[in-house]
Amino acid sequence: MDGVIELKHSLVDHHLTILRDRTTAPSLFRRQTHRLASLLAFSATTDLPIRDRRITTPLTETDGSELAVKIAIVPILRAGLGMVEPLQELLPEAEVWHLGMYRDEQTAQPIEYYCKLPAGGACDVVFVLDPMLATGGSVVSAIEALDRWDCPDIRVLSIIASRPGLERLQSEFPGVRVFVAAIDPELNEQQFIVPGLGDAGDRIFNTLP
Ligand code: PRP
Repeated sequence: MDGVIELKHSLVDHHLTILRDRTTAPSLFRRQTHRLASLLAFSATTDLPIRDRRITTPLTETDGSELAVKIAIVPILRAGLGMVEPLQELLPEAEVWHLGMYRDEQTAQPIEYYCKLPAGGACDVVFVLDPMLATGGSVVSAIEALDRWDCPDIRVLSIIASRPGLERLQSEFPGVRVFVAAIDPELNEQQFIVPGLGDAGDRIFNTLP
């Protein structure tokens, strides 16, 4: 899986373990989602194009740099909302385009219920956010929606992804890079990631059944 970048970092392991733990309360679950999204963002932005910028410090003139790309952040509702703030913190000029999708409980197929992609808008780099990539259906649908918009560089940030979901995404969109904190081996009968973390949306928004 050439396009999959799995973070290898002690902080990732530490914070991911807290995130997975079923006793972690929603307030801490949100904090952990932020922390892991920041670490994913750090990795996923390493090679963003920059251009020179000449500035004057309080002491002298010097050469600096600034980002030279138009960026969009696309959270997949609901759970992707939990990753937006850390991305915006690092990329304050980015646009945020919302996509609402839920997985049908019987079929596990994604159902789109909200699409706030700009009419005719284009950008250089898109970061698709979703803490979980299970079958890959939701992310694939999101990328299909984005494909209509002229986004040459799409990067997916997902905290936990299943191996079969990643294989599906890579086969359908081999040019899309995916940044993950962990790759879990399998899905259960209900198409939940195992060992996983449960339902990220419910844990973020405290709506566990
Ligand atoms: C979860 C998760 C992903 C999707 C992953 O969302 O946040 O969007 O399922 O599954 P997939 O890879 O098989 O498509 P859910 O449908 O529970 O909606 P929510 O974010 O509103 O909780």
